[in-house]
Amino acid sequence: MQVKKAVIPVAGFGTRFLPATKATPKEMFPLVDKPLAQYAVEEAAAAGIEEVIFVTGQSKRAIEDHFDSNFELEYLLEQKGKREQLKHVREISNMCTFAYVRQPEMKGLGDAILQAKKLVNEEPFAIITPDDIFSGTESALKQLVAAYERTDAPIVGVTEVPKERIDQYGVVSGEPVENGSKNGLLKMTGTVEKPSPEEAPTNLAQCGRYIMTPDLFEILEKLPPGKGGEVQMTDAYDQLLAKRSVYAVTIQGEYHDAGSKLGYMQAFVEFGLTRKDLGPDFRKFLKNRLKG
Ligand code: G1P
Repeated sequence: MQVKKAVIPVAGFGTRFLPATKATPKEMFPLVDKPLAQYAVEEAAAAGIEEVIFVTGQSKRAIEDHFDSNFELEYLLEQKGKREQLKHVREISNMCTFAYVRQPEMKGLGDAILQAKKLVNEEPFAIITPDDIFSGTESALKQLVAAYERTDAPIVGVTEVPKERIDQYGVVSGEPVENGSKNGLLKMTGTVEKPSPEEAPTNLAQCGRYIMTPDLFEILEKLPPGKGGEVQMTDAYDQLLAKRSVYAVTIQGEYHDAGSKLGYMQAFVEFGLTRKDLGPDFRKFLKNRLKG
């Protein structure tokens, strides 16, 4: 069955970015001139996703407004002959259809995903966390969709992370599917949330891209809180792979953890440098700035 739905959890308070996130969702932080949430939706659309389900919460109205059409703005841009901007603004609401469901209490990522159960229904679905962002690839999710089409099984996207930072991630272990294969497909044997560098079985970190099957919801419904007192997706994946084959695929592309301040700053610089219109001047500025 084709993957046509993506769940994008955006309910979190974004406490790491306070006070900026007091009234502004962190998913609306821009990389140059596009918010993180839009990068996530564009990536989903490029992977063939037709419906995006946002799991939202308090102070997140800006996300709904962003993906809705804005007649006043469109009229104004039309009147002023700002065709290019009008095109960009219109494209946003036409990329996919959008649905919203609220997470009433902040009980963790697992609980957030569970809120989308009714809207997902009996279909395979993607999960994208928008503060995990990739550059240098058309769509990280597309790589997972390709792996799903090959295996017909749940897929966890992973990226290599230095040992000293591995304790910030869900860590995956697995066995190569084909000896000598370069596609990085692993059959998962276990996963653990935020282990210490000494305990971490590998340096393969979950990085916010997943394809799941609806049987995940049965697990989530019964899952007790795990690390940090929150319902952890990592615990759900671990239970899932006891029941059926789950695969991990190493995403090709450069990973940025825009959920951390340093990672966000790095992503901003990276996306600024690769912009055709701004990149060359920005590069000059950085070179001069770093001379001193
Ligand atoms: C979450 C997940 C973790 C994952 C990380 C990056 O942690 O629990 O497994 O590796 O996102 O996608 P968080 O960064 O929300 O603490």
